[in-house]
Amino acid sequence: MMDLTPDPGLLDPIETASRDEIANLQESRLRWSLSHAYENSPFFRKRFDEAGVHPDDFRTLADLAKFPFTTKQDLRDNYPFGMFAVPREKLSRIHASSGTTGKPTVVGYTPKDIDNWADLVARSIRASGGRAGDICHIAYGYGLFTGGLGAHYGAERLGCTVVPISGGMTERQVTLIQDFKPRIIMVTPSYMLSILDEFRRQGIDPRETSLEVGIFGAEPWTNEMRSEIEDLFDMHAVDIYGLSEVMGPGVANECVETKDGLHIWEDHFYPEIIDPETGEVLPDGELGELVFTTLTKEGLPMVRYRTRDLTRLLPGTARSMRRMEKVTGRSDDMIILRGVNVFPTQIEEQLFKCKDLAPHFQIELVKKGRMDAMIVHVECLPESAHDGARSASAQELAHHIKSVVGISTEVRVHDPEGVARSQGKAQRVLDSRKS
Ligand code: DLL
Repeated sequence: MMDLTPDPGLLDPIETASRDEIANLQESRLRWSLSHAYENSPFFRKRFDEAGVHPDDFRTLADLAKFPFTTKQDLRDNYPFGMFAVPREKLSRIHASSGTTGKPTVVGYTPKDIDNWADLVARSIRASGGRAGDICHIAYGYGLFTGGLGAHYGAERLGCTVVPISGGMTERQVTLIQDFKPRIIMVTPSYMLSILDEFRRQGIDPRETSLEVGIFGAEPWTNEMRSEIEDLFDMHAVDIYGLSEVMGPGVANECVETKDGLHIWEDHFYPEIIDPETGEVLPDGELGELVFTTLTKEGLPMVRYRTRDLTRLLPGTARSMRRMEKVTGRSDDMIILRGVNVFPTQIEEQLFKCKDLAPHFQIELVKKGRMDAMIVHVECLPESAHDGARSASAQELAHHIKSVVGISTEVRVHDPEGVARSQGKAQRVLDSRKS
């Protein structure tokens, strides 16, 4: 694969600024952001008052720990527009979560917010190896989900020719990749695997496509999955992170030249890692829950938003801004099985060791008697669809999971195409315990 390290002259000055410069900027922007939230959002004013803090109590970065957290429940409780810090007429766009459980969470952006967002996604695409003039195929869903439109504005900002295909219609995804010859694809990693199947179904070698850079995010994925995609498509696979409550895609992004975790765009978001049980701030390097405070957002400023994503903060490498390690998983997706904590990414890591299995999987939680149990649904590759290979693969995967993750599971090896395909974010865990 080609070396895609960007020309240093293309970077924003802040990407290579000193830590002091970054901290100074964060301090002044945090002062503004806390005051803006307090002065203009009745929700934040009440929250701060109840906690007995005032924006004037913020003097240095360490003072942020005095301020109260914000959670997804706060957005639900203030549905739809109760947390905004500008009058609704000043918002140029609304996005919302799908709301599979409870009310959807609604977020809003001023024109300035949309402008900053486009800049940060442009920076993310550039970090991934994209350049002005590239054709960028966007298969993140368009609509209330922030993925499609967020990626779109950023790719346009960088100067790319955007193909806004959105998710779904997999056959057509392949046709347009063949016909338009994009250099970049932006899509969830699990949907990229569905696109891979379609390439094979059409008898096209995915290594022969024009794609050189894949910018994958919106769900956890492992370095093992990265190697698989890079190998099968002969392309760079780079991680993009974000969440709608804080902005959308482009809060953090990996650099293609290092692929060692995601640089957080710290000029717009201040990260903390906390102990999810106690709320205490943990030092850099320790694993915990990621928390963000926005530094520039006008429409919906966020103060210490608890993402529920588990990761750790690491020092900068390819850029001065700190990195977050690839997300292990959301605390909501953590399975506790007979006292052992398990994340779907841990199962994914083991799956890639089994050469006769396809990279698709789902975890089903069931009751066996009074005990919880886990069934891992996987599928065999077409060339291994015979009984001998299947039972060997089932045993192999169960063995890896037992020896590395430490839990006993039942592995069911289905026919090719037997595991549900993703068209966006994969649903990794099915809970059949209640039914
Ligand atoms: O998923 C925004 C996005 C779109 C990010 C496209 C990247 C690409 P939400 O729907 O609000 O926003 O979901 C946010 O998805 O808290 C994480 O749990 C998860 N997530 C997002 N990116 C990653 C990633 C978008 N790179 C939630 N790795 C977040 C792991 C991710 N998890």
